[in-house]
Amino acid sequence: MKAAVLYEPNTPLVIEDLHIDPPKAGEVKVKVAANGACHSDLHVMTGDMRMPLPMVLGHEGAGVVAEVGAGVTSVKEGDHVVLSFNPVCGICHYCTQGKPHLCETRPKALGALLDGTTRLRKNNDEIFHFAYTASFAEEAIVHESCAIKIREDVPLDRACFVGCGTMTGVGAAVNTANVQPGSSTVVIGCGGVGLNVIQGCALAGARQVIAVDLLDSKLEFAKTFGATHTINPGQDDAFKAVMELTGGRGADYAFEVISTAKTIELAFKMTGRGGVCTVVGVSPDGARISLNPNIFCLMEKRIQGSYYGSTRPRIDMPRLLDMYMDKKIKIDELVSKTFALEQVNEAYDLLKEGSGVARSVIKFF
Ligand SMILES: NC(=O)c1ccc[n+]([C@@H]2O[C@H](COP(=O)([O-])OP(=O)(O)OC[C@H]3O[C@@H](n4cnc5c(N)ncnc54)[C@H](O)[C@@H]3O)[C@@H](O)[C@H]2O)c1
Ligand SMILES: [Zn+2]
Ligand SMILES: [Zn+2]
Repeated sequence: MKAAVLYEPNTPLVIEDLHIDPPKAGEVKVKVAANGACHSDLHVMTGDMRMPLPMVLGHEGAGVVAEVGAGVTSVKEGDHVVLSFNPVCGICHYCTQGKPHLCETRPKALGALLDGTTRLRKNNDEIFHFAYTASFAEEAIVHESCAIKIREDVPLDRACFVGCGTMTGVGAAVNTANVQPGSSTVVIGCGGVGLNVIQGCALAGARQVIAVDLLDSKLEFAKTFGATHTINPGQDDAFKAVMELTGGRGADYAFEVISTAKTIELAFKMTGRGGVCTVVGVSPDGARISLNPNIFCLMEKRIQGSYYGSTRPRIDMPRLLDMYMDKKIKIDELVSKTFALEQVNEAYDLLKEGSGVARSVIKFF
């Protein structure tokens, strides 16, 4: 089967035929239908996020179950699934607490599946799986907990976004930050994930949703997704503008959805007393931020991270797709361009440029 493989950071992905093993016990083989182009893959391509190579990238996928391994009960051949990059064991400390996104199985298997081995090979050489999904490929083997059964009337080239951007963004606002009705919010970074934070804030009933991005084209998308105000920090002082819009207080909820120290520090600065700053962006390995610790005690400001929108995949993903079908959340408006697998590098060139594109989708069938 064909897949997009990264051999070295800062080189194009190579589209080539790979051998894929059958699913082992507890695993599922999925025929991938579509996959969004998320910035997290780009962090691996640039070497900002170090991973064992060669690796098949892609983690925002959806498809159809082709084969199930022994003992799999939650899906069967022919089922439509969203791929979750968050394996869940159901019995660890965090799963038991109702926080499956923090499941303890996850860190043990970087680049491999949960048993520590891979299912992908090129001429007998091992190829690693990105994010337990490796879905820039015609087929993917995933743990059963990563194959989330969904309703069949959702187009798979829309469902795939729930595999990362939509879940991460809406979940950061609704699950992690728990944005309250009537509150003020600011979102720095209006890419595929940030636009979903914006729609999550709007969905939660925020009175103000202030979008901040260097590209005016992204700010236009932001308005479509529910931004009440937009600020381009290339043209205006974003901190001053947010303070003015919030009566000098700062926002009740701030979100950083890029991944630079400067923008994380800015988001914290824009957070008002008693407010909470949520970091969604994935920073380069070794990055550090600088904050004045007295702000924690004197202003009761908090800073926290959000991983995968604090998802409970089997609850949240089908629910988000119900909301999409009921026109309560937007996904179509996210999809700016469609590419074939052979054009995956072009999709990432566009993501790097940014302008005019919210999210690209790689379509397999
Ligand atoms: N926490 C998670 O679970 C999770 C999941 C998925 C993605 N992410 C991360 O979220 C981040 C965003 O991903 P994405 O796919 O939306 O990326 P993207 O490239 O589509 O969006 C980034 C946006 O930030 C804007 N930007 C860049 N520098 C800026 C600056 N200095 N000031 C204002 N705006 C600026 C860009 O114009 C762009 O619109 C990435 O770091 C990604 O790895 C995190
Ligand atoms: Zn992603
Ligand atoms: Zn667990």
